[in-house]
Amino acid sequence: MCGIFAVIGSREVSPLLVDGLRKMEYRGYDSAGLATIQNSNKDHSRNLIIRKSKGKLINLSNLLKKDPIQGHVGIGHTRWATHGKPNEINAHPHIDFTGEIAVVQNGIIENYRDLSHSLLLKGIEFTSQTDTEVIPHLIALEIEKSLNNDCSPNGETLLISVQKVLSLLEGTYALAVIWSKAPDALVVARRQAPLVLGFGEGEFFCASDTPALSGFTRTFLPLENNEVALLTPLGIELYDQSGQRQHRAPSLLKGTEFFGDKKNFRHFMLKEIYEQPETAQLWIERYLPIDLQSDTSIAFPVSKSILNKIDQIQILACGTSRHAAMVGAYLLEQFAGVPTKVYFASEFRYSPPPLSSNTLTIGVSQSGETADTLAALRMEKERRNATNDINFCFHQLGITNRIDSSIGRELDNIIDIGSGIEIGVAATKTFLGQMLSFYGLTLLFASHTKKRNKKEILDLSNDLRLVPRQLTDLIKKHDSLSKELAHLFVDTKDVIFLGRGINYPIALEGALKLKEISYIHAQGYPAGELKHGPIALLDQHVPVVSIAVPGVVYEKVLSNSQEAKARDARLIGIAPYGKESEIFDELFSIPKVSEWVSPLLTVIPLQLFSYHIAAHKGLDVDQPRNLAKSVTVE
Ligand code: M6R
Repeated sequence: MCGIFAVIGSREVSPLLVDGLRKMEYRGYDSAGLATIQNSNKDHSRNLIIRKSKGKLINLSNLLKKDPIQGHVGIGHTRWATHGKPNEINAHPHIDFTGEIAVVQNGIIENYRDLSHSLLLKGIEFTSQTDTEVIPHLIALEIEKSLNNDCSPNGETLLISVQKVLSLLEGTYALAVIWSKAPDALVVARRQAPLVLGFGEGEFFCASDTPALSGFTRTFLPLENNEVALLTPLGIELYDQSGQRQHRAPSLLKGTEFFGDKKNFRHFMLKEIYEQPETAQLWIERYLPIDLQSDTSIAFPVSKSILNKIDQIQILACGTSRHAAMVGAYLLEQFAGVPTKVYFASEFRYSPPPLSSNTLTIGVSQSGETADTLAALRMEKERRNATNDINFCFHQLGITNRIDSSIGRELDNIIDIGSGIEIGVAATKTFLGQMLSFYGLTLLFASHTKKRNKKEILDLSNDLRLVPRQLTDLIKKHDSLSKELAHLFVDTKDVIFLGRGINYPIALEGALKLKEISYIHAQGYPAGELKHGPIALLDQHVPVVSIAVPGVVYEKVLSNSQEAKARDARLIGIAPYGKESEIFDELFSIPKVSEWVSPLLTVIPLQLFSYHIAAHKGLDVDQPRNLAKSVTVE
């Protein structure tokens, strides 16, 4: 989703801005732009210079090569269109009617219609269709008032004007502003949308996400909600909503991950699929080491006092994270005996269930910045706190790959899935890490509720310990098979995915992956539902992918698959090799494992299958059209 990168210091900022934006490309965007304040050689005046281009950042880089710009302060932006088409005009930065102020913004200004109406009445004309453009115009009006009151054109005037305008805005934002009359100032602010500050040597940064800071500085400070900061070449001043100066110590970024290295893989997605055995191994070493004390089932940093108070669990998540949550809900209910419900975070916000007592609320988000998940968690916290009844208090847990994210900071208990940065927009290794974290929670609750005896808990732990090895074998085997099969499916228009029980969410995930990166319509169903409607779609042109794992529903899934085959559908099985698997036209064989751990394996061929179809079609696998890695708007 939109990315902001801004710099102030003593170096030429234009290459730094492009470099910072490049490190956030993985978030997904459709246009890019930047603004600097440039000294005129003729009359030493300072001018705001803007460069924008539609499409990939390379277009902006090429434009800058042809038409370079200078300046020691600048703001950059990658836009993911919400209001107005993805074109050059709507790309950020946006400027005010004087041509002196430039703004980049993420989020949505919900009252922009009212604001633009009042600006139009003042004779101000708009050039874009964006909600953002109201901001520079409003700031310009505030600056005009200040200058009429004898204020000087400096950073403080800009800061105060921005603060006044922020109080007029409804909705969510992260923004950065520069003014050609105050070339030593960069003002940034946030409400709900993420923004971090970076402290370099004689230069200061602001970015939507910490990866953008890599290579510039490791010292960072996340801006809190409703805070505003004034960045100058000398330092950073931080203010809260009421204008009070804030003093907080910055932190050091951990790790020195290099974000642009595909390591000989054609795409990040394939690299990340291949990293899954390592994800699983690291997770096991961290949370399920062999030498765990005998009374501990898992080494999670979750307070034991929470466990005593929990009668049920509700999980809030979106997209792939929701599918991991569904696997988790199955495990928590069926293995650990804890009633668990999964909600679309976006739906939960506007139709929450009646308050239930002694409930653990879990938020699952790879990025930790998904606006719907964050808002649902905040809303749940508010409504529970409002009751003042101890039975309804907010017990919270976050599962994320980014402990430095908003979810990581806002929730008291966090499970860090530790999958390492994921660049491909389509989640793969983080899905595995999220599922593993639910296995961990299941072990924790099962030993606490005594629903399972020691042997059953030990068996599940031991099965989990075998997974990294099994993943390595599976990836090796199915990478080449799915590559071979991919060419058979490039012209396919619709695919149905079937699964039941613990593998139903994997059918949903298989369908989502295929849709996301290959743009083929796909739908996942619980296999038993096929005959209640979707079967009408089937013929020789609609392949059916069926996940059939020995266990509670094995025979049932096989029968449902037969029903599809009888309608001429080409049948692709994700199943162990054997007599039963003969019904499949194509087989992605998986080892005979306990049904409990099977989702960790059945998802692998589905990821590879989607990947190779998309790669075969020559699509932009890592940054599919219209999608963003971090969905920071509602
Ligand atoms: O960062 P999150 O896990 O909260 O993101 C939720 C969804 O936007 C995300 O899973 C999306 O569905 C991915 N593109 C899946 O590949």
